[in-house]
Amino acid sequence: MIRAAIFDLDGVIVDTAKYHYRAWRRLARELGFEFTEQDNERLKGVSRGRSLEILLEVGGFGKEGAFSDVQRQQMADRKNGWYVEYVSGMTPAEILPGAVEFLREVREDGVRTALGSASKNTGIILDRLKIGGLFDAVVDGTMVSRTKPDPEVFLTCASMLGGGILPTECVVFEDAEAGVRAARAGGMHCVGIGSSETLREAELVVSGFAGVSWKGVKNQLNTVR
Ligand code: BG6
Ligand code: MG
Repeated sequence: MIRAAIFDLDGVIVDTAKYHYRAWRRLARELGFEFTEQDNERLKGVSRGRSLEILLEVGGFGKEGAFSDVQRQQMADRKNGWYVEYVSGMTPAEILPGAVEFLREVREDGVRTALGSASKNTGIILDRLKIGGLFDAVVDGTMVSRTKPDPEVFLTCASMLGGGILPTECVVFEDAEAGVRAARAGGMHCVGIGSSETLREAELVVSGFAGVSWKGVKNQLNTVR
């Protein structure tokens, strides 16, 4: 039986990847190189610090010592300042199609809901989207020490929901490969949001929530179990 549904934020509830991309591209241009949308795909679900490492690798600054730790921290902070500026202008109209309806259906079925995100900006985004009330628990990048594919964020969600919910009673909705792996590593069910080519480890993959019902998802999870 599924007792809890845990949702990733970026790419599942809202498309923030375009804002992350704008901010990372701005940093890359300051450093004198182009960062493409294809390069940006590698940053999905990845922590801010690791994202910076990947960006610097793309720019040819991959070697240890190319920048000091202080310089790297300053770069990550600059990028985040721009990102916060961009997401501060978001409105509920940017919530991905069908997500709110899906969350409501899950809750009406008596299933607890949680948000499990790597982002340290989760609070700002939830405020802008005005959907904080749809989650019984929120765990973000400020609350965990190990990032996805480690299952810590999702296991913390399950324990914060209380009621002794077991990992096997949780289903995670994720758009990033690292997130799908985190869910499976935690012993949870996982529905991929995106393409089944990249999200191979998910039990079921849908392209988004539009036209997808909780009842349908639940039935399919039961048949693949
Ligand atoms: C994830 C995004 O949800 O959060 C990543 O998919 C991002 O692209 C990560 O790097 C950390 O986000 P933030 O807001 O803490 O920089
Ligand atoms: Mg995501």
